[in-house]
Amino acid sequence: MNRFLLLLRSNWITASGAVLTTLSFMAFVTSFVYFSLHGGGHGAYVGLFAFIALPAFFVLGLVLMPLGLFVYRRQLQQRMELIRHKPFRLIRVIAVLTLVNLSVVGTAGYEALHYMDSQQFCGTLCHEVMSPTYESYLDSPHARVSCVECHIGSGASWFVKSKLSGLRQIAAVLFDTYQRPIPTPVHDLRPARDTCEQCHWPDKFAGDRLVVRQHFDEDEAVTPSTTVLVLKTGGVRPDGTATGIHWHVHPGNRVTYVATDGKRGKIPWVKFVDEKGKERIFTVEGQDPARPPEGEMRTMDCVDCHNQPSHAFQEPDLALDEAIAANKVSRRLPFIRKVGLEALKKGWTRENAKEGILKDLEAFYNANGTLAADVRALIPPAADAIAAIWLRNIHPRMGITWGTYPSFTGHTGCMRCHDGEHLDADGEAISMECSTCHATLAKKEKDPAILKQLGLKQE
Ligand code: HEC
Ligand code: HEC
Ligand code: HEC
Ligand code: HEC
Ligand code: HEC
Repeated sequence: MNRFLLLLRSNWITASGAVLTTLSFMAFVTSFVYFSLHGGGHGAYVGLFAFIALPAFFVLGLVLMPLGLFVYRRQLQQRMELIRHKPFRLIRVIAVLTLVNLSVVGTAGYEALHYMDSQQFCGTLCHEVMSPTYESYLDSPHARVSCVECHIGSGASWFVKSKLSGLRQIAAVLFDTYQRPIPTPVHDLRPARDTCEQCHWPDKFAGDRLVVRQHFDEDEAVTPSTTVLVLKTGGVRPDGTATGIHWHVHPGNRVTYVATDGKRGKIPWVKFVDEKGKERIFTVEGQDPARPPEGEMRTMDCVDCHNQPSHAFQEPDLALDEAIAANKVSRRLPFIRKVGLEALKKGWTRENAKEGILKDLEAFYNANGTLAADVRALIPPAADAIAAIWLRNIHPRMGITWGTYPSFTGHTGCMRCHDGEHLDADGEAISMECSTCHATLAKKEKDPAILKQLGLKQE
């Protein structure tokens, strides 16, 4: 061992390599043990340091050691003279250390790849680029599903593909050549069969969904109303046939379409093939059914409706209704639905939005009569809640504003086809009756009787 240390100290390059390797080895092992015990709840930069920087230092040290010996090879020869009579032990020490090194590099490599698949890495490292997505993701039903489970899925070929595309993206960020807003649809997204359907089985969909939604008017009293729908999400009947909204993704049905606007928004041509292979083609006026237009052709899967399944952006009026319903924005403030919505639509920056919205509300209430002191005290919390909605959804530097990423699970998405203008050879339209998709039990009613009948409201 002494002789080995003698070798390491033979010149300054080798010596610094040895120090670097030893220190980063100790730091890596410590953080590895720490993270194994405490789970992965560390920030992106801690991970970057522990799993990428430390192993890099470790390897750098390993490279420096032989490099130094090579550069100062004359001195090395002299030292070798000193230890010539016991060469075997030296080889044994080097062999053992090499094994240790390989296992460290292996573990580090594994941890580095693992770390690069974490939400922290995907969501926060390129902070400005991904933070809009990341913030809305944390506020979604998929907040515990990692980005890679939808964006990459399992299997080696998609893994390699994603790492290559990741390198391209890092280059785009470094050289600032990426597009703002980040364009959708994501064209090389993995098919939903390999991602969504690993957790949600289309032939297991069953049951409809009750939607009770509070709305508020723009009047002085901020009058509440309630909409009650039964969304026929359906999927399969007990006998296995398809029904309802998830009918489109039932294994027996195939709906293919061509979109011509690059955003899957304009759809002039739709083909439906049923279980028995019978075809129906629906087209808008002026479109030849036999000749699909130029554009992206897709067979409908989950993502054609659930295009914002995670990291979903909100609509200002619905988000404000939710905040009023949750009493984060108090209805005791006259006209708050109207003033709040106006404030949400102004062109703030991320730096001045919070302060600006508060000033805006104060100015409105100062100019319009006097408020009782206890009502006036409700302005700052209301302004905070409204600013929070703005900050969650608007990112001027990333080009994201209201409507940049529309959701296709509502009328906007459905009416791309169900608009009464897509006709088949017999002149029959893709169904447009309200009851195809939902039973509308109450539409903006003051006090819907149905809620009492359902036992959702006592009186
Ligand atoms: C539940 C599945 C799911 C999860 C989890 C998920 N994504 Fe997505 N993401 C999608 C789908 C589907 C699209 C494609 C939308 C389209 O093409 O219309 C998408 C699109 C995107 C886009 C393009 C812009 C946009 O909003 O449409 C970005 C950027 C993105 N994802 C980043 C992330 C990051 C970062 C994470 C983790 C913090 C993440 N995603 C987690 C499913 C997911
Ligand atoms: C790793 C598993 C996993 C994957 C992959 C996954 N999901 Fe989910 N999904 C979940 C979980 C867990 C929930 C939450 C269930 C709950 O809250 O009851 C959920 C909830 C949902 C919901 C209900 C949201 C709501 O408002 O309640 C939708 C819609 C959905 N997922 C669609 C998708 C789509 C589309 C994809 C593919 C792009 C996908 N999921 C991929 C696990 C997953
Ligand atoms: C034709 C459009 C459409 C397609 C295609 C579609 N969904 Fe849905 N899905 C909806 C709508 C609309 C809802 C109800 C509204 C909501 O929850 O956002 C819904 C609700 C859900 C829910 C919530 C649970 C429930 O039953 O209420 C899950 C989970 C879900 N979808 C998963 C999927 C998966 C996975 C796929 C692909 C296999 C898929 N969906 C395909 C439109 C669609
Ligand atoms: C790409 C075109 C397209 C889009 C987008 C689309 N649909 Fe459809 N949908 C069809 C076609 C084609 C049919 C079959 C013809 C018909 O039933 O009129 C159909 C049928 C249906 C049916 C009847 C299923 C049955 O039991 O026969 C429902 C319910 C439905 N769609 C709901 C929706 C909802 C909700 C959305 C939006 C979230 C939506 N669709 C979006 C093309 C589309
Ligand atoms: C192709 C399917 C489809 C058809 C046809 C359809 N809707 Fe809807 N509708 C939906 C879906 C999906 C939602 C839920 C969207 C959401 O969660 O905001 C919805 C939501 C609604 C809402 C609730 C909006 C809210 O925020 O309170 C109303 C009201 C409504 N629809 C009225 C109608 C009426 C009236 C018709 C007939 C003229 C109709 N819809 C036809 C799919 C459809």
